[in-house]
Amino acid sequence: MRYGYFDSERREYVIERMDVPVSWTNYIGTKDMCGVFNHTAGGYLFCGSPEYHRITRFRPNGVPMDFPGHYVYIRDDADGDYWSISWQPVGKPLDQAKYECRQGLSYSTYSCQYKNIAAKQTLFVAMDDPVEIWDVVLRNDSDTARELSVFSYLEFSFHQIDMDNRNFQMSLYAAGSAYKSGIIEYELHYEEDSYQFFTSNFEPDGYDCLRDSFIGPYRTESNPIGVEKGALSGSKELGGNHCGALMKKLTLAPGEEARLIFLLGEGGAGSGAKMRERYAKPDAADEQFALLRRFWDEKLNKMVINTPSEGMNTLINTWTLYQSEINVMFSRFSSFIEVGGRTGLGYRDTAQDAMMIPHSNPAKCKSRIVELLRALTNEGYGLHLFEPTWFDGTQKRQSFKSPTVIPTKSAEDRVHGIEDACSDDALWLIGAIVNYIKETGEFGFADEKIMFADGGSGTVYEHMTRILDFSARQVGQNGICKGLRADWNDCLNLGGGESAMVSFLFVWAARQFVELAEYLGKTEDAGKYSQLADDMAKTCEDVLWDGEWYIRGITADNRKIGSHVDGEGKVHMESNTWAVLSGVAKGERARKCMDAVHDYLYTEYGLILNAPPYTVPDDGIGFVTRVYQGIKENGAIFSHPNPWAWAAESMLKNGERALKYYDALSPYEQNNKIEIRQAEPYVYCQFVMGSAHTAFGRARHPFMTGTAGWAYFAATQYILGVRPDFDGLTIDPSLPENWKEVTIKRLYRGAEYDIIIKNPKSGKSVAKLYVDGEEAAKIPVFKKGTAHRVEVTLS
Ligand code: GLC
Repeated sequence: MRYGYFDSERREYVIERMDVPVSWTNYIGTKDMCGVFNHTAGGYLFCGSPEYHRITRFRPNGVPMDFPGHYVYIRDDADGDYWSISWQPVGKPLDQAKYECRQGLSYSTYSCQYKNIAAKQTLFVAMDDPVEIWDVVLRNDSDTARELSVFSYLEFSFHQIDMDNRNFQMSLYAAGSAYKSGIIEYELHYEEDSYQFFTSNFEPDGYDCLRDSFIGPYRTESNPIGVEKGALSGSKELGGNHCGALMKKLTLAPGEEARLIFLLGEGGAGSGAKMRERYAKPDAADEQFALLRRFWDEKLNKMVINTPSEGMNTLINTWTLYQSEINVMFSRFSSFIEVGGRTGLGYRDTAQDAMMIPHSNPAKCKSRIVELLRALTNEGYGLHLFEPTWFDGTQKRQSFKSPTVIPTKSAEDRVHGIEDACSDDALWLIGAIVNYIKETGEFGFADEKIMFADGGSGTVYEHMTRILDFSARQVGQNGICKGLRADWNDCLNLGGGESAMVSFLFVWAARQFVELAEYLGKTEDAGKYSQLADDMAKTCEDVLWDGEWYIRGITADNRKIGSHVDGEGKVHMESNTWAVLSGVAKGERARKCMDAVHDYLYTEYGLILNAPPYTVPDDGIGFVTRVYQGIKENGAIFSHPNPWAWAAESMLKNGERALKYYDALSPYEQNNKIEIRQAEPYVYCQFVMGSAHTAFGRARHPFMTGTAGWAYFAATQYILGVRPDFDGLTIDPSLPENWKEVTIKRLYRGAEYDIIIKNPKSGKSVAKLYVDGEEAAKIPVFKKGTAHRVEVTLS
């Protein structure tokens, strides 16, 4: 069953049926101001921090589903009937009103046709101002003049989400509202200069600043008294719950259109007045929208692929890059799942996100890498979860004053000890740094000095050596890297036990570092770390090979995890894919272990993480043994590591399997199976229920997952095989046999490469490479602004 379709020309996903099983979300904003909204305009807005600077309120995981939002109501003043432009909150029967939602790149558009009134509401954040714009258009499609009233509604939040959710003795008396000259001012009285405004480009015919006056007692957003009566009460007060309700009466002649702009922004009435003037004419909103379009066009044009797979083209050229960007821009803690109570950066997630898209967002990837470098300890482990402001000198948090005493964390408390360190966290950062340099050619970055979290400073290069030295020191009784609190798998808690995955990851990171060291002429270091990598690779081969695949690890009491003798948790995806990705597993072992992945873990919706799932709690292995079967880390199709298998199969030149796995996980391919998938078909979810669960195939936790970055990286750099290198591009595709031709337009260090890969004989590797018509050994870095043609033939 399908609920919508991909409109690739406009780069939108169009939801035609509103009663989707769960919220289908989207993100607006490209800088500090960010909003998360679903297909019925439910959602919230924040600026900078979803924990400390919430602007609008949201009641997550509640009933009715995902209320409130940024709503526009229309009332027919002839008979008092009213509806909302988004299906919710009023929720007219779907056979009486026609609704549509278009999820676009950093905007959402809701439209409705009811009683011959066509209405449309677009939400987006201005590129040049910290202002959310609601662009509302109404048209009278009937043949008589219509008297209508239009109402906006949003519910303000106390800035600090914890206070807003539980400390009402404070929050309800520390926020006030005022109204003057068309502008609602919302003030957080205890925070200096902390205001929001809500205004419009018209003279309102009424307003309410108090939520309870607008909604009325024993009512909800679905039937607010203000809309029902067709008149607002002019409420405002110091203290209480506040809202942004502005009303406009309109008379529309047959065929006539009206356009209203609402503005929700940072700052007090003064800022509101300025914005009101700036956006007085809708052209100003059009300009900002055009800038937003250009912003995304530029990003997406950095790489455009054309393969025989419409699904891959649609996802890679638009949605997967978009999802990867959202992760880099806003990290993980703003969604309908993480609603702002946990913020800051997760070390491993951020490092992986930053590794994937330096071609599209070099500035943000670099600043994320720097934030992570600052959160590295002298010991060489990263702080698993941290606030970048702890280390960048801005400390915005302290401006929040609370009469409730909350102890402030001292600088030392922020730096956790090794007992809270995860063994993989900082290793990812090496990949991110090397990939950043390969993409941008910014070799000088290696010499930049950066502070350590616990004092002192060192170059980026030195930080990298600390990371590798830490992992090289932290080995267990078998010479394999320790699992510590967790490795990539949060639920595998091995402590002093050993992690196969991290050992492979160490080899992967060390070899990338060695490449960089060699390139920078640091031969001694290159030799040293190359030796460490070789030694670890040998230990892995000696200790971890189980006969048909690699084990997942070893417990502190020296029991193997993921061996053929195990009844459950027999085969694991992480160790086997990383055995190949690290280059440790070669030849027959590589083939065999990926065959085990196929035979034990493949399902029609993607690869499950481990099979069979655990049923018997075993604290030597970790929390994973206490998770329900088929959910999350215990035998679900955990999406994030799926692309590891695409990449590993590509390295083994098994393009068929790489694509089979790609398609199995692809949300695009599940557009017609929403009764099973439930979640958005335009983005990856954190996991899909595994075959051991009754809801096999149901996807959960959209958008904020490292899957997007890895999917983008594995598809472009491994399946299609276009990889940046220190001194040019490398092409090493692994295509399915029936793909005869693929073209890729790639911008690299300012030059344009038009790449055509020809595969007439279902080839596995590059036989011929022509650059601008001349046979070449590699693809060099060209001058900025030039365009080049690259032709590759596989055989
Ligand atoms: C979640 C975490 C991520 C972890 C993964 C597997 O997605 O954000 O850090 O690697 O779960 O446990």
